[in-house]
Amino acid sequence: MDWGMKNRLSKLIKADGHCFFMPIDHGYFQGPTSCLEKPAETIKPIIQYCDGLFVTRGVLRAVIPPELNVPIILRVSGGTSMVGKDLANEVITTSIDEIIRLNASAVGVSVFVGSEHEQQTLLNLANLVNQCESYGIPVMAVTAVGKELEKRDARYLALACRICAELGAKVVKTYWCEHFDKVVCGCPVPVVIAGGPKCDTERQVFEFVYDGMQKGAIGINLGRNVWQSANPVAMAKALQAIIHENANVKKAQDIFRDAK
Ligand code: 5RP
Repeated sequence: MDWGMKNRLSKLIKADGHCFFMPIDHGYFQGPTSCLEKPAETIKPIIQYCDGLFVTRGVLRAVIPPELNVPIILRVSGGTSMVGKDLANEVITTSIDEIIRLNASAVGVSVFVGSEHEQQTLLNLANLVNQCESYGIPVMAVTAVGKELEKRDARYLALACRICAELGAKVVKTYWCEHFDKVVCGCPVPVVIAGGPKCDTERQVFEFVYDGMQKGAIGINLGRNVWQSANPVAMAKALQAIIHENANVKKAQDIFRDAK
């Protein structure tokens, strides 16, 4: 691996090999998501606990101060919306020149395995890897399911993650599921746990994150379960402890309770 690629990855994945990414890219297909109407205000109290910010170029340029000392993972796929025909019909939205100009530490692209647009989104990933490898920029693949949340089982996610790794993703972000070790074991590159819709309780979040980490994930990319919480700072602190301090569920709950 070349120096630039290693250097960028080391900014995102800390010395313990773990990472806590904060996604605020939801608006790219669903508009002004609840609690993310003003993204800069949403992240202000929590970003200090995170190792990377997953964001589109539009929000980055419009509201994120360039002085903010957090590595950027640029969301570079899109072109669809919640009210459109098919969320899977994504293209690459951001040129390699833009990616470099914005000093991205990595880029993120969704793939929709098993969808009508499977080939198109897999080629989005492969072509992006071709371009980004030339400049030492890591590509994070996102195994997306659109509205078909029921697809998220170990068999499907293992298949999708492995394909992303085969096409050159440096990191794969995927949903937690039962038997998550099967997903991680079949994937030769690091796996980061995605969030999904807000859980009913904090404990549920700590449980799936802890389980995923025990089963080999290197970290999380968790948005709504943090910034849609009534206590986002307490959530961020507790999750950071699971990721970087090996806290268990009970310890995370204690940290949450003390911080809220
Ligand atoms: C959407 C994404 C988002 O980054 C991610 O899903 C958002 O995080 P969360 O689900 O935890 O709110 O990749 O496809």
